[in-house]
Amino acid sequence: MLNHKHKKMRKNIVAGNWKMNATFQEAEELIADIVESLEKNTPGCEVIVCPPAVYLELASDYANDYENVLSIGAQNVSEYEKGAYTGEIAASMLASMSMEYCIVGHSERRKYFGETNQQLALKVERLLENAIHPIFCCGEQLEEREAGNHFKVVETQIKEALFHFSNDEFSNLLIAYEPVWAIGTGKTATTDQAQEMHAYIRTLIAEKFGKETAEDTTILYGGSCNAANAKELFANKDVDGGLIGGASLKANDFVAIANSF
Ligand code: 13P
Repeated sequence: MLNHKHKKMRKNIVAGNWKMNATFQEAEELIADIVESLEKNTPGCEVIVCPPAVYLELASDYANDYENVLSIGAQNVSEYEKGAYTGEIAASMLASMSMEYCIVGHSERRKYFGETNQQLALKVERLLENAIHPIFCCGEQLEEREAGNHFKVVETQIKEALFHFSNDEFSNLLIAYEPVWAIGTGKTATTDQAQEMHAYIRTLIAEKFGKETAEDTTILYGGSCNAANAKELFANKDVDGGLIGGASLKANDFVAIANSF
């Protein structure tokens, strides 16, 4: 099933998830400001921008004009291949626009659109078939952490959606740990909380796919990550970068985060 177009190794990455924000004009201004700023302050990491689907072409055009400065990703994909699914976007469509990445299973999609681990497994499958790297999101709710269930919750999300893939297939995935209580709340996970969960996720991967695959997997942190706290978070051994929401809508803040390695 896997299309071997490109192979991923562990990387430092800062990815911006614009969510459902910006008009066309604002999106154009933001993407232009980001590439301009990245050219002046080249970060020591890969930078990805995930705009709303209607702006993917715009963002790709900018990224193509400034090669190697920026990669583009989508925020969501259909679990179906193609056909009569009004309003949906197929992985093959994203691939035909040279999309490299796609976020899957963001907690907002799980919460507001009822996405299940089983559906997410299909979305990941569609992306892998089309040689797009899924950025698979996982993370616990506040009550789950308070009850001491956070490891179990994240483990179930990852196992149910991802552990039936082959080692080769899994090697094309990125993981984003996003504790739900930290998203858009200004309440960042402490560096210890982030490192502890990232290390746990890496152990789970090692148990299933072996140490080499685990060491090669990029694991991003998301949840109120900003220019002031990124350096401390990224300094952790198992934190390979960030998935940034709010702060990715301001070019200077976003590029400052990318320059935090
Ligand atoms: P915030 O950075 O706004 O907390 O959002 C994080 C997020 O959900 C990224 O996907």
